[in-house]
Amino acid sequence: MTVLLHLDASARRTSLSRELSAAFADAWRSEHPGGGYVYRDLAADPIPFIGEGWTDLCDRVLAHGTTDLDHLADLVNSPAQEQAWAIVEPLLAEVRAADVILIGTPMYNYSIPASLKAWLDQITFPRMSLAPRRFLVTTARGGAYSPGAPKAIYDYQERYLRDFFAGHFAVQDSVFVNAELANSRQDPALAHLRDKHDASYAAALAAARRLGKEY
Ligand SMILES: Cc1cc2nc3c(=O)[nH]c(=O)nc-3n(C[C@H](O)[C@H](O)[C@H](O)COP(=O)(O)O)c2cc1C
Repeated sequence: MTVLLHLDASARRTSLSRELSAAFADAWRSEHPGGGYVYRDLAADPIPFIGEGWTDLCDRVLAHGTTDLDHLADLVNSPAQEQAWAIVEPLLAEVRAADVILIGTPMYNYSIPASLKAWLDQITFPRMSLAPRRFLVTTARGGAYSPGAPKAIYDYQERYLRDFFAGHFAVQDSVFVNAELANSRQDPALAHLRDKHDASYAAALAAARRLGKEY
């Protein structure tokens, strides 16, 4: 059975990155009626930040040279590590069971929300290898960061996630669907960019639907 893990990270309940991830998920689910689907709202149901128990466990992973995720639990050897593991284990199980990981995320301060970073920190251990899986990220950003845009070099959202998935998950072909210039919806000073935003959002929505059918 093929499984989709769907995460959303926007602090807004009504949000563009959520609309885009939902469009992908709806299309994917109608193409895979027998597929598995797991949803996590990282903003409404936040993952705790890692604590000392987690870092102790990570130190043990490094000291033992462990590379097999199945052996992580064997390294737990203190109450603090047990507490940390109780948070990590179900999150990691979701990731390992997923064939496709879909992340809807806003750009916050040129990067990703702390809610999403907390999830990444919890599930990532050094040198652990996962079977290949696909990553699809839908983003919304207030400004424009596409190649050629004056602020393109400040995009630490797509660049960070793309490099992270490549570095830690050996996934070189993660796909990003970005809706840009979203601040033109609220900021009168950016009203002249609203048409460009509408076109960017419409293209992103169409891409999310198309990719949901293809994955
Ligand atoms: C805390 C915060 C920080 C933001 N930082 C940026 C930023 O650095 N660059 C940018 O282009 N937009 C920024 N924005 C605008 C959001 O990216 C924009 O509102 C986007 O639509 C959010 O996605 P959402 O609609 O899924 O919530 C920020 C918004 C918030 C609330």
